[in-house]
Amino acid sequence: MQQSLFIKAAFSQPTERPPVWMMRQAGRFMKEYWEIKNKYSFLEMCKTPEIAADVTLLPVNLLGIDAAILFSDILVTAEAMGGKLSFEQGVGPRFSNPIQNQQDINALETDVKHRLQYVADAIQVIQQRLNGSIPLIGFAGAPFTVMSYLVEAGSSKDFKKTKLFIHNHPTLAHQLLQKIADVTVDYLNLQIEAGVNALQIFDSWAIALCWDDYQTFSHPYISQIIAKLNRKNIPIISFCKGSSVFAPLMAEAQPDVISVDWNADLRNIKQQLPQNIAVQGNLDPHILYADKKVIKERIHRLFDRMKDQNGFIFNLGHGIMPDIPFENVKYAVEVVKNYTF
Ligand code: CP3
Repeated sequence: MQQSLFIKAAFSQPTERPPVWMMRQAGRFMKEYWEIKNKYSFLEMCKTPEIAADVTLLPVNLLGIDAAILFSDILVTAEAMGGKLSFEQGVGPRFSNPIQNQQDINALETDVKHRLQYVADAIQVIQQRLNGSIPLIGFAGAPFTVMSYLVEAGSSKDFKKTKLFIHNHPTLAHQLLQKIADVTVDYLNLQIEAGVNALQIFDSWAIALCWDDYQTFSHPYISQIIAKLNRKNIPIISFCKGSSVFAPLMAEAQPDVISVDWNADLRNIKQQLPQNIAVQGNLDPHILYADKKVIKERIHRLFDRMKDQNGFIFNLGHGIMPDIPFENVKYAVEVVKNYTF
């Protein structure tokens, strides 16, 4: 596995072309996903190892990507801690018992590894089926992003409640973030034990934070998590929306790879970082709605910028949207695979 394109690029070793995978590569843009989704709820899919494995393998078989990502969700840690989680069609994730005060935080449990065993089981099934062909990426949400769902009771446009919480009740916010961080360390180490080949930490909503708040309420917890992982030869990818701005701080947490949103020039970000930190990204996913010649031109433009750089994994700046045409995603993968540095 150390010889796979993805692992080599993640450890900043030279590769003949950039490896490719895409965030949300197993999802609603695929009719094969809907064939499964129409039979089960989203959480059932996550919690049944055989089904989670079936979905994880869809983009492996249909797109030919260079790395698989475990089919699960960042909110399973919050659920294991006691959050009453549901996913409703068209609404997204909801917690019916949002966190509002000290009592709510006290009620959250942290010794919850046993409740996440289904994820370890899914990883084992997936690895049996992948049979060493490509690496499997495990993941978890970053404490700030997971906290935002617990405080807002679900998704949010402006993160008003979360920001009020960190600004007016910083002590409570730190208690909550620490509890989530502790669970996340156990959870990611469980994934390593179960056999993942890489890990990604998703801080999707860091983009809502100003520099000081990112530094105080997100960065220390990601640093702590990365420092406590039994890493062995497993690269750690740190993703956030907002990485165009926060990349220098993200690098201090010592991940192997920083996954960059679409706002920045990837080459500029790469050159600001220590040599041993690779970058992943950063095509605007909206490009995948465009005509094929645009898709090809934009991927080539990105690759021409990154040509002389080791440590580059092709991905999007954020996840694939559900209504992006499957054919365009497949075409983008082909364009990447036909490119040589
Ligand atoms: O990338 C992959 O293919 C692996 C699976 C994966 C999912 N969620 C599946 C999913 C991963 C890595 C995630 C991470 C995740 N979940 C993040 C971080 C990444 C990001 O996109 O920012 C976040 C913020 C969540 C929380 C979450 N889960 C939301 C906001 C939603 C609703 C999305 C929407 O647009 O309605 C989910 C549900 C979810 N997670 C789906 C999938 C395939 C859709 C479920 C469905 O079919 O209804």
